[in-house]
Amino acid sequence: MKEKFDELAKRKAEALLGGGKDKIEAQHKKGKLTARERIELLVDEGSFEEVDMFVKHRATNFGLDKVNYPGDGVVTGFGKIDGRPIALFSQDFTVFGGSLSETHAEKIVKIMNMAMKAGIPVIGLNDSGGARIQEGVNSLGGYADIFLLNTLASGVIPQISVILGPCAGGAVYSPAITDFVFMVRNTSYMFVTGPNVVKTVTHEDVTFEELGGADTHAIKSGVAHFVFDSEIETLQNVRKLIGYLPLNFMDQPQRVEFDMNELTEEPKLDSIIPDNSNKPYDIKEVISLIVDNGEFFEVHKGFAENLVTGFARVSGMSVGIVANQPEVLAGVLDINASVKGARFVRFCDAFNIPLLVFVDVPGFLPGTEQEWGGIIRHGAKLLYAFSEATVPKVTVITRKAYGGAYDVMNSKHIRGDFNFAWPSAEIAVMGPKGAVEIIFKKEIESSKDPENELNKKLNEYIEKFANPYIAAERGFIDDVIYPRETKMKIVQAFDVLKNKVDKNPKKKHGNIPL
Ligand code: COA
Repeated sequence: MKEKFDELAKRKAEALLGGGKDKIEAQHKKGKLTARERIELLVDEGSFEEVDMFVKHRATNFGLDKVNYPGDGVVTGFGKIDGRPIALFSQDFTVFGGSLSETHAEKIVKIMNMAMKAGIPVIGLNDSGGARIQEGVNSLGGYADIFLLNTLASGVIPQISVILGPCAGGAVYSPAITDFVFMVRNTSYMFVTGPNVVKTVTHEDVTFEELGGADTHAIKSGVAHFVFDSEIETLQNVRKLIGYLPLNFMDQPQRVEFDMNELTEEPKLDSIIPDNSNKPYDIKEVISLIVDNGEFFEVHKGFAENLVTGFARVSGMSVGIVANQPEVLAGVLDINASVKGARFVRFCDAFNIPLLVFVDVPGFLPGTEQEWGGIIRHGAKLLYAFSEATVPKVTVITRKAYGGAYDVMNSKHIRGDFNFAWPSAEIAVMGPKGAVEIIFKKEIESSKDPENELNKKLNEYIEKFANPYIAAERGFIDDVIYPRETKMKIVQAFDVLKNKVDKNPKKKHGNIPL
């Protein structure tokens, strides 16, 4: 028996070495960790259970019959994050550059199928030269199998992609379908075609980092939801994200203990809105004064900053926050903000995470760039996402709620459950100046003192419409509240909604405007 045990130990040791010591050294020299080191950082100590360690490739072309590495360039298995189970795969760049072969793909597909059956999140650590060139269409087929499963698993289990090296060509479409993409500055990049092809086709000179680095995707394209400076920080934040999520769509997000004695008024909120309604303030300050311990885990922080999205806890309960940011573009909704918000709202709704919405929106951004870019169909995404969401939905209007944007931002009319307004709220079709210039155009023009007439009409309009009370009289606002009592009101609202049941009509699937 000893011989058999020795053989097992030998085989395991061989698999643990991946592509060998030299390749591991080369990986470290690039400032990157190995597939196994990353797993150790991601999951609770000692919790990783590997599967398919002995899988080898079957291809024989181009000398592949002479080299073979157990595991075939990807480590797969199960682990725990803060005691809760997850499935993972971690591509091993030391073996054929982490390239995806037929068997490599089969391992990923297997782990994803098991994750779906078990109802647990799947986390992919990507570091790969793409399709294994020697395997031709077999590896392309492998990618397609993964894309299909990513699609089928969407909305069933949370899927998280962590890009820790190259991710190019068709390979990008697996992370693109998953729920969240993490990237690391300077060592990870994603693009459909690399700088050389770009140069040939469009004659543009662009570096890897400029074309598809972490900041490019976090700020310009919106492909990446999170970016960090190091792999360690990145993996720690993946752990943090998992803490806000349920394990699957039938599970509830984890609730952490909260001492209700801590639920007190927050007087600082009373003085946050500037007297001049055109002056900005930071909505993130409002959020941090309301959520537990002031902790806000922001999603898409650098992209479309005029709309803030992210996770937090309110009395221990995980919530998804969507908020207009008056500090950026006056909090206006544009194409990117609408797409960002819609995707976040749909994620929360798919995974039973209640929505908390802060509104201070002057409307949609005007201009040819926006109109020709399709703000109508993109803005419709956010409207659609809020309308179809059946999770508990609470809205707080802090200041402006103008025009169509008022409707879109989780209004009562599209099934907002509790809609509160601060006394500073202005709920109207448009801002006072624009409105007065339209409806009193003739009076102002024919007046002997047009400026005086304009001011008179402005005051009249502000008194009549720039407040929350007309909406409250109609019941479109459930209550006008003092800012300092906002957290208590929100906690009470979510408590009432604890067992909320809402349904959409039976259908195959909706047709969200894409
Ligand atoms: N198929 C097979 N082997 C691959 C591969 C692929 N797609 N990508 C990388 N490798 C191998 C390399 O041959 C090399 O093997 P070796 O160590 O035995 O020489 C090893 O992985 C490391 O690659 P290397 O090119 O030395 O690493 P790098 O960090 O300098 O560059 C890439 C990384 C990804 C930029 C580069 O390998 C590359 O361009 N790969 C091809 C990408 C591609 O076009 N993929 C197909 C489209 S999906």
